[in-house]
Amino acid sequence: MKSATRGPRTPKFELARRTLGKLSLGERLLLWLSRHPEDVEVVSDYEAPGAAWTVDNALQPFEAVFPGFRDAIRGKRVLDYGCGDGFQAIALARAGAADVVGVEVSQARLRHARALAGETRTEGVEFTEKAEGRFDVVISLDAVEHFLEPEENLREMVAALTPEGRVFVTFGPLWFAPFGHHMHFFAPWPWLNLLFSERTVYRIRSLYRKDGATTYAPDLNRMTVKKFRSLLKSSGVRVESLRYGTVKDLPIVAHIPLLRELFVNQANAVLGRNLDEVIPHAAPATAKQKDRDRRVRNQPSQSVSVPSA
Ligand SMILES: C[S@@+](CC[C@H](N)C(=O)[O-])C[C@H]1O[C@@H](n2cnc3c(N)ncnc32)[C@H](O)[C@@H]1O
Repeated sequence: MKSATRGPRTPKFELARRTLGKLSLGERLLLWLSRHPEDVEVVSDYEAPGAAWTVDNALQPFEAVFPGFRDAIRGKRVLDYGCGDGFQAIALARAGAADVVGVEVSQARLRHARALAGETRTEGVEFTEKAEGRFDVVISLDAVEHFLEPEENLREMVAALTPEGRVFVTFGPLWFAPFGHHMHFFAPWPWLNLLFSERTVYRIRSLYRKDGATTYAPDLNRMTVKKFRSLLKSSGVRVESLRYGTVKDLPIVAHIPLLRELFVNQANAVLGRNLDEVIPHAAPATAKQKDRDRRVRNQPSQSVSVPSA
């Protein structure tokens, strides 16, 4: 937020009329619920790297929902899929992971991540657009609801695992959750995506973000709980656990399908490779890896405990 030390400023309705012309009733209502454009400093998510993270707090989202997370990554080769500005990947390397690769499609974020690794003099971490090889652990934080092809991306994460490896994925808010619209930076009100049309939301949003976006896609894939569950099924991955984080830790709602959509903020899943399935996206395995695959296939799988939502 900008400091409010300046003199009188143009009222937001006048600003909006100058930029957007005539406003519909819905647009006026949403604008009334919104902050003043001059109070919202961020022009785009990608220009405000790491707003919330530091290398010290970056692993908290995983530690909060996956007990023993730090032990699970210690000495391991770890992939951070959708690593954003690099905070988690760098924190993993500092927490004792043997080798960390952060994968990201945004060049701006890759630049930020590499610079951060340099500034913090962190060894054993690299950032790239495409990961090579196999990993003992794959993590992904708050990225699934942004993937253009989430099923493909989930398959890729699992395909990158060693046979006994695990994916730890936690993301949200989901689409029907109170802030699933991801517009809280200018209108901190719940369910705007259900109450206002996409056009209305994006016309008002254009007063705050000058990125030319007019629709939720491609930034948001409207991931619901139902979609995520069916995607886990159709992607053929092995689901070790799937738990939900609910609004204000409300009990029971996660078990009732309609309420679950409205009050589940976060999905937390531990996934593994389905060893009987041929995964077409897997990086080619070396002879040593193939031998290990064979041995692991004959062992019972380890279970990872995850608390209920
Ligand atoms: C909301 S950000 C989360 C970033 C980071 N994990 C964090 O929590 O700070 C989602 C990130 O996923 C990235 N992303 C989207 N699709 C991707 C893909 N197919 N492969 C890799 N990264 C992707 C976006 O560029 C964006 O940086």
